[in-house]
Amino acid sequence: MNILDKFHHWRRRRRWNKQYRTGRWESLKSDIEAPRYEKIKEFIQTYGPKNPSILDLGCGDGVLTEKLQGMEYQFFKGIDFSKVSIEKAQEKAFPKAVFQNTDIIKFQPSQNYDIVIFNEVFYYIPDSEKIRVMDLIFQHLNPRGILISSIFREGIGCWEYFKENESLKELDFTTVTTSKETTYWKIGVYELS
Ligand SMILES: C[S@@+](CC[C@H](N)C(=O)[O-])C[C@H]1O[C@@H](n2cnc3c(N)ncnc32)[C@H](O)[C@@H]1O
Repeated sequence: MNILDKFHHWRRRRRWNKQYRTGRWESLKSDIEAPRYEKIKEFIQTYGPKNPSILDLGCGDGVLTEKLQGMEYQFFKGIDFSKVSIEKAQEKAFPKAVFQNTDIIKFQPSQNYDIVIFNEVFYYIPDSEKIRVMDLIFQHLNPRGILISSIFREGIGCWEYFKENESLKELDFTTVTTSKETTYWKIGVYELS
């Protein structure tokens, strides 16, 4: 990243911390967001192995972990560069889940995973880092592992990293709609080709 990108990235992280502190992201727990998490859960169960290890990149305060309660998984790791969101996730004390305050662009996985999730975070990764981050994730996917990405609305400038990536094969792709015409998400599932 150049110095300007670094500055914007730093400022963005401060903003996320402030927003988690003031409750701005409580909205992720609202009913309108629920079908997005439901679809991710369904994709995990349909395309992932039984009892998977899961890595949730940009996990926020653990909403997905909450939604997965009752589903069998071996291990769940969530990372987020917002210290405040990670503290909130840790307070929930989910069994089998650990949360780490770290930036996706600095993260070095210490193990491989069956499922890696970019849940409403891919667009925040600086463009200059997107390919490097994806390549690192590919190296830490178990054989038959899957990658799930959810992106709000059209995901302009994001889906090409998945759809035009020769290392990936698309297993499923869907649009999750809501009662509000302008609120929808596209969610894709990929495996290594
Ligand atoms: C819209 S929220 C989604 C949170 C969560 N994935 C969910 O859907 O419940 C985006 C999250 O990405 C995190 N984030 C943005 N850029 C990040 C980065 N470079 N490294 C780690 N986390 C990041 C933010 O702190 C925030 O928690």
